[in-house]
Amino acid sequence: MKHLIEFKKVYFTYEPEVADPPHALKGIDLQVEKGEFLAIVGPNGSGKSTLARHFNGLLLPSAGEVLIHHFSTSKSTAEQMTEIRKRVGMVFQNPDNQLISSIVEEDVAFGPENLGVPPKEIRRRVNRALAALNIFRYRRESICHLSEGQKQLVAIAGVLAMKPDCIVLDEPTALLDPFSRKQVLENLQKLNREEGIAVVFITHFMSEAVHFDRVVVMDRGEIIGDGPPTKIYSQSELIRGAGLDMPVPARLAAGLTEKGFPLNPGILRVEELVNSLCQLRSKI
Ligand SMILES: Nc1ncnc2c1ncn2[C@@H]1O[C@H](COP(=O)(O)OP(=O)(O)OP(=O)(O)O)[C@@H](O)[C@H]1O
Ligand SMILES: [Mg+2]
Repeated sequence: MKHLIEFKKVYFTYEPEVADPPHALKGIDLQVEKGEFLAIVGPNGSGKSTLARHFNGLLLPSAGEVLIHHFSTSKSTAEQMTEIRKRVGMVFQNPDNQLISSIVEEDVAFGPENLGVPPKEIRRRVNRALAALNIFRYRRESICHLSEGQKQLVAIAGVLAMKPDCIVLDEPTALLDPFSRKQVLENLQKLNREEGIAVVFITHFMSEAVHFDRVVVMDRGEIIGDGPPTKIYSQSELIRGAGLDMPVPARLAAGLTEKGFPLNPGILRVEELVNSLCQLRSKI
């Protein structure tokens, strides 16, 4: 079976000239399928951003290879690299670093314009991307008048207008307030469910990762866990070993269970904790 994206034994060092250099990635094997909704978590310096930059050839493996639609990023011609960048869009932590124009709709049009898409089709794509992210009403606004969260949605719309198969987001919510964070996450979920776009979402927030179908855990340049959130978070040794926190609802549930309140097993989200507490209350 062909994977949308495949990492095969990928190693990466920032210091190739050094003898026996430190590696930021150490033998990464990872497959991403069409339409997946995937979170990557890991402590500081574990290699998440280095990994993210391999998804569309911004960085090339020191050893091993990354295949995007069976093009190897390290062996691609300039034309194939353009195709790769069309198919895999990147969004970074700080929207200010990737917004180019001063007006929302002009910024969203920038990517497809660069690809040589005809003007009528650009207009259609821009409107569609803005509508999909619920920011159509801001289309004529100056970007500097928007909140950080809205700016991040504009950055995502810019990627969406390129019609990618996959969007990779490197801590896109790290600088946002909780409301904007929720808004970005909900919009990504919608794009994934309704447009079938694969989402690879890198985060420090364990509470965000629980909303994904699959969670990959990185530690010191390696993947140490990969599976649905319920499986990953049931491995508390693995989570603690990587210096990560359990999501707050899970910690509360564990604490309450220890104190003799029999809550449902496997609680990760606030809604699950509330439901379980309500069930318990109705039994008392
Ligand atoms: N430009 C660079 N030059 C040299 N070393 C780097 C560079 N960028 C990252 N590194 C090193 O590579 C390793 C992985 O860093 P990376 O930024 O990929 O981790 P991260 O998981 O994204 O961390 P964070 O959570 O802080 O964003 C770290 O040891 C880091 O010091
Ligand atoms: Mg990083």
